[in-house]
Amino acid sequence: MTELDVLVGERLAQGPLPAGEFMALALYHPRHGYYRRAEGPWGFEGKDYYTALDAGPLLGKALALRLESAWDRLGRPESFTVLEPGAGRGWLGRDILAAAEGAFSSALRYLHQDDNPAGRQEAREALGPWLKNGRACLLGEDEDPPPLLGAVISNELFDALPAQPWRWDGTRWVREVLTLEGPAWEASEPGSAGDWFSKHLPAPEPGDGSVWCEAMPALVTRLAGCLRRGLFLAVDYGDSADRLLTKGADLRRFSAHVVDGRWWEDPGGADLTADVDFTRLQELLEGEGFGEFRVTTLSRWIRDHAPLGRWERDWQELESRERVRRMENLLQLTMPGMLGERFRVLEAWNP
Ligand SMILES: C[S@@+](CC[C@H](N)C(=O)[O-])C[C@H]1O[C@@H](n2cnc3c(N)ncnc32)[C@H](O)[C@@H]1O
Repeated sequence: MTELDVLVGERLAQGPLPAGEFMALALYHPRHGYYRRAEGPWGFEGKDYYTALDAGPLLGKALALRLESAWDRLGRPESFTVLEPGAGRGWLGRDILAAAEGAFSSALRYLHQDDNPAGRQEAREALGPWLKNGRACLLGEDEDPPPLLGAVISNELFDALPAQPWRWDGTRWVREVLTLEGPAWEASEPGSAGDWFSKHLPAPEPGDGSVWCEAMPALVTRLAGCLRRGLFLAVDYGDSADRLLTKGADLRRFSAHVVDGRWWEDPGGADLTADVDFTRLQELLEGEGFGEFRVTTLSRWIRDHAPLGRWERDWQELESRERVRRMENLLQLTMPGMLGERFRVLEAWNP
């Protein structure tokens, strides 16, 4: 039994524990939370899950071009800063910095923001050359950068925020909780979650429901406040509010590359994640003055922004193993069953 099991047990003795509170404890308990451990969860063998960054550098390369066009649109300022909250190992920043070219490369600054000790440790290595020359910097989650001209980008940040599952039981909204006997659904006042669900699914069927992320508005306000002008871009899995509601979106647990819905088992020892409600993310950004929204699948976004013809020509020069790696990386990002259709990219512009 781990210390976190004991803590959860003590909490349960006082009454049911809402799944969202369990998720917050399991991921972010300052000493025992999954994202506060000394060892990182990312990768293939021996790890829990992989992200687009483990598949190779192509997401970073495509993003470098997208960021360069944002820099162009801003009038090619001398300094263009990219803030990445939830940056983990800093691999996306590394891939962007390595891919940037010409005058854009001289203007580019990268701010890694994450309290995850394993991520920060790996980021120091991955970003080494740019930390040394002052073009990259590590920030804590509570540290606000000065208002910046540039971009706020994230990969799988919002799906890692604690979220509470709700269901329509035919007469009322019920929320998922953990009790001493196991997981259960209990009636509770849904507040803003209920208003949102009713707005996007006025006539729910029994079993319909979604996840509600309490922390999303404050985080969006904070990130939007950092960006004086420029691009907001989030890559994550999730869907529109109505589709999540009819699908009955729930929490998922990732452990050793196996995914299931048993979120209540092994707190602190497995990843817990929730679909992102992109309709809500867009509405929150709208409230902060952002516009020009575009939400697409990752597959579509890559096909729109990556110079596939040029890459194909460049790859002919690579030795065959490296060429195959690039092809595999591209397939991971674009194949529907891999990341291509499961992931969405939201773009917004702060004028
Ligand atoms: C699913 S991981 C993704 C890591 C990385 N972006 C990747 O793709 O490999 C989510 C990360 O978000 C971090 N995180 C969660 N809430 C955060 C916040 N409010 N600010 C910054 N980082 C946060 C966690 O510590 C964790 O490292």
